[in-house]
Amino acid sequence: MLVKTIEWHRDTVRMIDQRLLPGREVIRTYHDYRGIARAIRSMVIRGAPAIGVAAAMAMALAIRRSAGEQARARFERAAAILKATRPTAVNLSWAIDRMRHVLEANLELNPERLYRRMRDEAIAIYHEDIEVNRALGRHGAELLDSKVNILTHCNAGALATAGYGTALGVVRAAREAGKAVRVFADETRPFLQGSRLTAWELRKDRVPVTIIADNMAASLLRTGEIDCVIVGTDRTAANGDVANKIGTYPLAVMAQRHKVPFYVAAPLSSIDLTCASGEEIPIEQRPATELTEFAGKSIAPTGVDVFNPAFDVTPAELVTAIITERGIAYPPFTKSLAQLKHSSTE
Ligand code: MRU
Repeated sequence: MLVKTIEWHRDTVRMIDQRLLPGREVIRTYHDYRGIARAIRSMVIRGAPAIGVAAAMAMALAIRRSAGEQARARFERAAAILKATRPTAVNLSWAIDRMRHVLEANLELNPERLYRRMRDEAIAIYHEDIEVNRALGRHGAELLDSKVNILTHCNAGALATAGYGTALGVVRAAREAGKAVRVFADETRPFLQGSRLTAWELRKDRVPVTIIADNMAASLLRTGEIDCVIVGTDRTAANGDVANKIGTYPLAVMAQRHKVPFYVAAPLSSIDLTCASGEEIPIEQRPATELTEFAGKSIAPTGVDVFNPAFDVTPAELVTAIITERGIAYPPFTKSLAQLKHSSTE
C-alpha cells in the first residue's frame, strides 16, 4: 500500500481521513487522545484492527507527562472515553487492556520513561497487526483454487488494519502465491466502505475488482460467478457467531442457499471468548444522517424515523471456516476457536 492507514510520528498520530476517500487523500494529525476518540467516532479511521491500533496510540498520549497514580487515573479516564466510541469491535478494548497491563507493570517509572514504554507498546501492536494479517492471509490463501472469484463486504483491507488487511489480506496472499484472483466488492450501504475503500485500495495494488450494489450479490451467487465469500469481523463470539458490517448476515444466508463457502477472516484479537454467543455482542447504532443524507444533501423526508445498526450477527451455522493467524477453525467453533486462542498465549 502506498498510503499508510495510521502511523506514529514524533509524539503525534497520523491517519488518512477515510471519509474523504477515494476523492481526496488527506492526512490528519492528532496530538491527544480526545482527538483520536473523535476520529474513531466520526470514521476518520475505521475497521476493527485499525481502531484497536489507534486506541493503543491514544493511551500512550493520554498518560504523557504523568506517572504513578496520576497516570493510572488519566489512563482510566481516557479508556472509558475511547471504549465508548465504537462498542462492537472488541479490538478496541483488547488493545486498551494490553496497554493497561504495560502501565500497571511500569507505574514506578518516571514520566518520560513510562511514556516511552507505552509508546513502544503501541508501536509494537501496530507492527504485530501487520504480521498477524500476513500469517492469516497465508492460511486463507491455501483454501483458494488457482483461479478464484471472491465476494467481499465492507472493507477488511489495509485501510481497516495497520496494513495488508484480513479478508483482503487473504486476497493479497493468494496473489503473492501466484493465484488469479478477482474480487467482487459489495458497495456496502450506507457508508460505502466497499465501493469507496475496498475498490480504492485494491486498484492501488492492481488487483482486479468489480463493485456491485449490495442487492446484486444474490444473483451473482445464483449464477455461479462467485467461488467463495470472504469477510472480516468486528467481534466473533466463542461459539463462532460473527458480528460484522450490516449486510454480512444476508450474504451468509445466500451463500449457504447456493452452496458457496462463507469464510470469515478473524485475527485472534477479534475473537472474544467472553461472549458465549452473538447475542451478547453489543451492536452500535450509527447517526440517522448516514441514511437520510448523501454527500451533504438530504435524500429522505425530514424527520423520518431511521434504523441504522452498523453491524449484524451471522450465526455460526452459516460459517464454513474462520481464518486466523494460527490456522483455520472449522465447526464446531466452540472447540476450534478456544484451541487456537489458547495456543496463541502459550
Ligand atoms: O463500520 P466499520 O467500517 O468500522 O466496519 C468495519 C467492518 O465491519 C469490517 O469488516 C471489520 O471491522 C473487520 S476489518 C479487518
